[in-house]
Amino acid sequence: MDARESSIQFRYAVSDDIPQLAELIERSVRELQAADYSAEQVDGSVRLLFSVDSQLLADCTYFVAEMATPGGEHTIVGCGGWSNRKTLFGGDHAPSRQAELLDPKRDAAKIRAIFVHPLWAGRGIGSRILAVCETAAAASGFTRFEMGSTLTGAHLYGRRGYMEYGRIEIPLPNGASFPIVLMAKKI
Ligand SMILES: CC(C)(COP(=O)(O)OP(=O)(O)OC[C@H]1O[C@@H](n2cnc3c(N)ncnc32)[C@H](O)[C@@H]1OP(=O)(O)O)[C@@H](O)C(=O)NCCC(=O)NCCS
Repeated sequence: MDARESSIQFRYAVSDDIPQLAELIERSVRELQAADYSAEQVDGSVRLLFSVDSQLLADCTYFVAEMATPGGEHTIVGCGGWSNRKTLFGGDHAPSRQAELLDPKRDAAKIRAIFVHPLWAGRGIGSRILAVCETAAAASGFTRFEMGSTLTGAHLYGRRGYMEYGRIEIPLPNGASFPIVLMAKKI
């Protein structure tokens, strides 16, 4: 099934979702980033960089994508958000978090923390989440978007009009380092 044609629904993430989101994010990172990063990079980054950013939930700028199951229940198949704060990437425990607010006239909104459950990868869900985030940021007056992307995410963002403008390396506690791709787009 292609998510572009199916009954996927979006809603704001709430604190009750955090355990399920934490599980989805870790599984997404471990399985979908394996083609782009070494096991050492994934192990070292999974808690430091890739965990829930509770600021996004508090700001009501984080979404979950849900799919109806045949039994009529809803299961979370992906998540992602945007932010009008300076933090470019990373969960609650990531280095260099910056809570300062951005100015839509001057600054680019941050596109944040898009993760798809591995069982649902490659069906357009990442693209749908990105579109929801861009629409919400644009409704708040932003005309430019940027992100610190994984190598894995850079494929998706490149397909959706983002241009790479640099790379940074994040040192990890286990001695490895984790490359992040800086990407931006103007509407
Ligand atoms: C990156 C991620 C969100 C993509 O989600 P997805 O639902 O599989 O993406 P889509 O199905 O919408 O794919 C969008 C486009 O990107 C391409 N793409 C996605 N992942 C790709 C990959 N690993 N290699 C090559 N192309 C890829 C698809 O071919 C598609 O292009 P098309 O529409 O022109 O055919 C998902 O792989 C993921 O959760 N990865 C792990 C977490 C992560 O690194 N997130 C990014 C944080 S910045």
